[in-house]
Amino acid sequence: MEVIIKTDKEELSKEAAQIVKAALQRKPNLVLGLATGSTPVGTYQELIRMHKEEGLDFSKVVTFNLDEYVGLPPSHEQSYNYFMYDNLFNHINVNPQNIHIPNGVVPDLDAHCEWYERQIQKAGGIDIQILGIGSDGHIAFNEPGASLASRTHVEGLAESTIKDNARFFEREEDVPRFAITMGVATILEARHCILLANGENKADAVAKCVEGPITSQITSSALQMHPKATIIIDEPAASKLERRKHYKWVYENKRKLYSAQ
Ligand code: F6R
Repeated sequence: MEVIIKTDKEELSKEAAQIVKAALQRKPNLVLGLATGSTPVGTYQELIRMHKEEGLDFSKVVTFNLDEYVGLPPSHEQSYNYFMYDNLFNHINVNPQNIHIPNGVVPDLDAHCEWYERQIQKAGGIDIQILGIGSDGHIAFNEPGASLASRTHVEGLAESTIKDNARFFEREEDVPRFAITMGVATILEARHCILLANGENKADAVAKCVEGPITSQITSSALQMHPKATIIIDEPAASKLERRKHYKWVYENKRKLYSAQ
C-alpha cells in the first residue's frame, strides 16, 4: 500500500484528481470507478475545474459507481444517482450512456447485481476505483462481516453507517436500511484502488485499514492484498497510524528517486 499524507482535504483532493488526470491522458477511454459521500466531493470539484479550465476530456470515459440505496429512485435527492449528477456528471462532458450506477428500485435486485458485474466485465474491468472509508472501516457498503470474496450484492447497513449518513436525511428513520454494493472482490479487481479519507473521525478506521490485520470486520483492510492501492489522507485522518513518519519519508524520497532517473 502506498500511503500519502497531505496537510488537508484540499490537498488530498488535488492529489487524487492529478492521478485521475494523468491516467485519463494516457487512456482517454478510462474505466473509472466512483464513490459518493462527502470525501470525494473535493476531488470531483478539482476534476470539474480541470475539465473547464484545462480541457480535460471525459467524452470516452466509462464510469461505474460503487453503490446505491435500495428503495430510492434515481430522481430522489438522496439517491447516489442524484448525487453523482449533481456533484460531477452535470459539469463534465461524460457520455450519459457510459454512466453506470446500480438501480435501487429494480424488481429483481439479485439479477440486477449480476447484470452490474457483467457490465464491469464487458467494459474491460475498472482502471481506477475511487473509494471512501466508513467510520466502521467499510469500503463501498461492505459492512463488518461482509465476505472479502463478495461480488455486487445487497447489503444491510450497519447501525453506525445509518447514524453517519443520517446527516443527509431529514430523520434517521429515513435512511434506507439496505444498499446494492460492489463486493470486496469486485473492488479488488480494479487495477488501481485509491482510498481517500479526511478528518479525525476516520483516524481509527484508517489505522485498522492500513496497519491492522486483514479481516472481514474491517472490509477496507482487504486492500492490503491489492497490488496497487493508494491511500490518500489528511493529517487528522493519519493521526493514528503508527508508521506515519515512515510513509511520509517514503513518499518524499520516492519522488526524488524517480525524478533523478
Ligand atoms: C459511498 C461509499 C461509502 C463512503 C463512506 C464514507 O459511495 O461507498 O463507502 O465512501 O461511507 O462516506 P463519507 O465520505 O461521507 O464519509
